[in-house]
Amino acid sequence: MSAIARVVNLVKNYNLEGGLVQALRGVNLDFEEGDFVALMGPSGSGKSTLLNLLGCLDRPSAGHYYLGNQDVSQMDDDQLSEIRSRYLGFIFQSYNLIAQYTVVENIQVPLLYQGKMNQQTYHRCVRLAQMVGLGDRLDHRPTQLSGGQQQRVAIARSLVNNPHVILADEATGNLDTKTSIEIMELLTALNEMGKTIIMVTHENDIAEWARRVVRMRDGNVESDERKRRVHRRPTNPLVGSRR
Ligand SMILES: Nc1ncnc2c1ncn2[C@@H]1O[C@H](COP(=O)(O)OP(=O)(O)OP(=O)(O)O)[C@@H](O)[C@H]1O
Ligand SMILES: [Mg+2]
Repeated sequence: MSAIARVVNLVKNYNLEGGLVQALRGVNLDFEEGDFVALMGPSGSGKSTLLNLLGCLDRPSAGHYYLGNQDVSQMDDDQLSEIRSRYLGFIFQSYNLIAQYTVVENIQVPLLYQGKMNQQTYHRCVRLAQMVGLGDRLDHRPTQLSGGQQQRVAIARSLVNNPHVILADEATGNLDTKTSIEIMELLTALNEMGKTIIMVTHENDIAEWARRVVRMRDGNVESDERKRRVHRRPTNPLVGSRR
């Protein structure tokens, strides 16, 4: 395995009227290609701040972030958005789907913004919908789907640019246990296909799916453990036509 992402002395401060919030105080981490990482830690410890920086959604106050072999910490907005579309996929707790759009249209959204929509990419989005088990829901709108199905749409959308790294912030936070397991099976399958996955979670049960657990506290890395054995690995995880 080789390092796909590396942060060096990463600092993020927020200037508020009440004073300075030091959200990250000099974080050093290497992520290997194919890593499956759970970011844990108490509320306010800096998990989402770190994930947003890793996702090039924000810039650090100090320090460096290397993605592949590029230092992205000093890039401007256009360069960051190019990097995001080339390397990164995002999954959020609240799915962030567009209510008026169908399943396939939601999966297409990143391509729409990039002006890359055509017949070929349409078919690719249909295949992604099928891959996450929504082949019979292509024309449904988000309100006609369960929470788990909505998150599957978001996962398919995150894959549309064939990203190297998938970043997930509390992806199962709104889901019941059974549905959370289905989503984790899907993420595990993607990891086994070679995607690097970095996910924030509060839940030990969810972190168990990862190969590595990084714990944050007060803007620092408190511990970083690689597991020799992962508890649950599904045998045939890609759901195909299961629902
Ligand atoms: N946009 C912002 N402006 C000001 N302060 C912020 C901003 N975003 C985060 N913070 C502060 O930075 C610190 C870290 O926040 P962050 O959202 O990264 O925590 P977290 O570990 O994700 O917490 P949670 O588990 O509650 O989601 C907190 O003290 C928070 O109040
Ligand atoms: Mg958070």
